[in-house]
Amino acid sequence: MTIPYPTKQTATAFTEVEPPSGAPRPRLSFLGTGYLGATYAICFAELGYEVLGFDVDEAKIAKLAGGQVPFHEPGLDELLRRNLAGGRLRFTTSYAEVADFADVHFICVGTPQRADGMGADLAYVETSVTRLARHLTRRALIVGKSTVPVGTADWVEQLVAKHTDPALRVEVAWSPEFLQEGFAVEDVLRPNRIVVGAKTDWANGLLYAAHKGVFDLAATEDREVPLVVTDFATAELVKVAANAFLATKISFINAMAEVCEVAGGDVTQLARAIGYDPRIGNRFLQAGVGFGGGCLPKDIRAFQARAQELGAGEALRFLHEVDLVNLRRRGRVLQLAAELLGRRAGPAGPDLSGTRIAVLGAAFKPNSDDVRDSPSLAIAATLTKAGADVRIYDPQGIENARTAQPTLTYAGTMAEAVTDAELVCVLTEWAEFRNADPQALGELVAQRLVIDGRNCLDSALWARAGWQYRGMGRPHPQV
Ligand code: UDX
Repeated sequence: MTIPYPTKQTATAFTEVEPPSGAPRPRLSFLGTGYLGATYAICFAELGYEVLGFDVDEAKIAKLAGGQVPFHEPGLDELLRRNLAGGRLRFTTSYAEVADFADVHFICVGTPQRADGMGADLAYVETSVTRLARHLTRRALIVGKSTVPVGTADWVEQLVAKHTDPALRVEVAWSPEFLQEGFAVEDVLRPNRIVVGAKTDWANGLLYAAHKGVFDLAATEDREVPLVVTDFATAELVKVAANAFLATKISFINAMAEVCEVAGGDVTQLARAIGYDPRIGNRFLQAGVGFGGGCLPKDIRAFQARAQELGAGEALRFLHEVDLVNLRRRGRVLQLAAELLGRRAGPAGPDLSGTRIAVLGAAFKPNSDDVRDSPSLAIAATLTKAGADVRIYDPQGIENARTAQPTLTYAGTMAEAVTDAELVCVLTEWAEFRNADPQALGELVAQRLVIDGRNCLDSALWARAGWQYRGMGRPHPQV
């Protein structure tokens, strides 16, 4: 039976359905134990569910089964070890085992940008769904979590229909995630909303049972978790719309930074002032070298590509500008570096040969070791290409940075990176850099020039310690 779709519902509107496995609570599997799947698997075990994590990557599965999280996420290691020991959490590379075990299968595989364009590559979704479907021997619910182009859930439903016996009545639902790296454990255990795209009462009821741990935890803390139950298309769009909005907000303030730079304004004060208006809000208004990471850049590109395919390309044309503003901020650092180091731009851009630059930050944001589409690392590569001798330091991201950009030069400590540098660029706002003593760093460098790519330093303090300071969208401080 198809149920109507009100725009907002409370969890109590649903009745739990009995899991097909006969277990008292639905058993859950998470296919793809990358950042998303591993975090969900571990946190749902913590909520008391029996969980099986699956990946085709045997090394990753061996690490997780041995109690090691293969990426940096605060608090996750401890939860992994506790739930492995508690016996609620296991990992496998066998589709047959997954199919036999779980009632609800969450698809958490990657959907990277296609090599031949801006769209999302759905090859991993196709493989995981098809191979799982072929192994199913009883009723189950397959729930997409990966970020996908609108229309994917319908296609997944067709794949499932093609590869399962119709008598099993396997169903599909879509439930996007909104994890922020560095806060992912909280975002799973205490989400600010749950969005579900489902077609039947059975799918809704089973998904409700699969999330009951989240609602129960909220109830014990006297909180409510809003639940939005909707159709497939809306559920898919919610995720990309949210990321498009966040990216637009960041590029908006970075566009204001560009204007401040030529008009002599200070974007940090401007952001503060507009942010007091509750309709605007002060979050995600931090001007700097822009957004990166595994989500925002690729998601706004895939969203444009999909809108174009659907004939609504014009509606999202502004996202192209959002992308351009974002990328221009990276170029601004090169421009500032040349200006501070007294280098003039030739036809191929500024020539920085013979200069020594320290880049502080490689991760796309602090408290993460993720360097995917990281502005810091991209800028370090550009400075190197312009001829500078660049030394990069990051508290967590060096290993991944070295894999992504093996030809760049890395330092083991902040002191090592800045020693003898003629210019220091702070490009990721780690606490270690924000709290650094400009006087002590000044003793190590060849000259006291600093670019604050995240507007995270106390400009007056640095200026007093004798540094020439340049922020993003800010006037030069008067000492
Ligand atoms: C993002 C979304 O926030 C999350 O909801 C979604 O599920 C995945 O994508 P994440 O990639 O972890 O999460 O990073 P986020 O904290 O959103 O930051 C993205 C980038 O924007 C970072 O590079 C950050 O430095 C930059 N940023 C953020 C700014 O430049 N200014 C800001 O004000 C905020």
